Amino acid sequence: MAARMSSPDSATPAFLAACRRQPVPHRPIWIMRQAGRYLPEYRALRAKVDFESLTRTPELAAEVTLQPLRRFPLDAAILFSDIMTPLQGMGVELAFEPAPIVREPIRSAAQIEALPALVPARDVPFVLETLRLVRANVPRGVPVIGFAGAPFTLLCYLVCGKPSKEFAAARAFLYAQPQAAERLLGRLADAMAEYLAAQAGAGAQALMLFESWAGLLAPREFVQFALPAVARTAAALRRLDVPLIYYVNQGSPLMAAVAQLDVDVIGIDWRTSLSQVRQVLGPGKAVQGNLDPAALFAPPAELRRYADAVLTEAGTAPGHIFNLGHGIWPDTDPDAVARLVDYVHERRS
Ligand code: CP3
Repeated sequence: MAARMSSPDSATPAFLAACRRQPVPHRPIWIMRQAGRYLPEYRALRAKVDFESLTRTPELAAEVTLQPLRRFPLDAAILFSDIMTPLQGMGVELAFEPAPIVREPIRSAAQIEALPALVPARDVPFVLETLRLVRANVPRGVPVIGFAGAPFTLLCYLVCGKPSKEFAAARAFLYAQPQAAERLLGRLADAMAEYLAAQAGAGAQALMLFESWAGLLAPREFVQFALPAVARTAAALRRLDVPLIYYVNQGSPLMAAVAQLDVDVIGIDWRTSLSQVRQVLGPGKAVQGNLDPAALFAPPAELRRYADAVLTEAGTAPGHIFNLGHGIWPDTDPDAVARLVDYVHERRS
């Protein structure tokens, strides 16, 4: 294993090589939410089909996954779905408006006990079929990323029932009913481990966990609640030979804790420099990020300067995947994405 990890293989796509901290011929880049509303071809489909039907119809979900790959020479594809989709498969009733709204928020031990285990092939077969279709049709042999919400981020939606700035009910739940919270996190950790393992079985070549609301927690509560849950998911996936990526939004104060986690790549928002992140994480982790999505609104020459800053801060040690620090905004000009991708590929660091 160690020998394979340290010897670069020119047939390995740049994205997967970077996940494993191997040298790459060019800096790989993909964009969080690269399939979505900033693309006119996505909006055209969405005018005809609601979001949920898009995610549940493999031909359409695969088509949306591939749309950005046809436009830009991106280094990875990411499954088109949502972090809440597997919870629907577990019987949680929710609507996308467009953000997910849970009809009956989960706040009691009885509701937690009643949550069934997730059986991906039975409960979300359309996700697995989408991945098979994407793998069969992806251009240039580009690797395909599967994903799930990290347990604490899913808890935020399940307990609050809707997105919010503060997620007050979810945070209060941690303090008011810590044991119930830990039980829910454990259930979600196991369900997401099953879900991600099934995605790998259906063709996903890397697996990403989104901790979008990590920034709500003080480091102590992050270590008590969020980290053990994601560690449990990661441990269950370690037997697979698939790189794991943990995206931690607003995670800079949490990096020392995150460094303990047995995953390959840490994704981070734009609020910290990658050089600092790499210093805290040490040489054993690759990093992904972290251009501010707002930078895509800069004039072209300025955008190049902002991309340069990210590349410089990431440094020349192997193990950097260029990305935004959070999802691309729906009003972004696709031409700015085209320029960014080309620039990152051309720039020699
Ligand atoms: O990255 C991709 O291109 C893959 C698709 C993807 C979606 N959601 C599609 C989507 C991914 C990876 C997600 C993950 C997701 N979903 C996260 C984690 C990433 C993050 O942004 O922090 C979260 C927190 C969610 C929950 C969620 N789903 C929200 C808050 C919203 C509304 C957000 C918005 O931009 O309006 C959704 C709906 C959603 N998921 C849309 C898309 C394209 C918009 C739906 C539409 O077309 O109407």
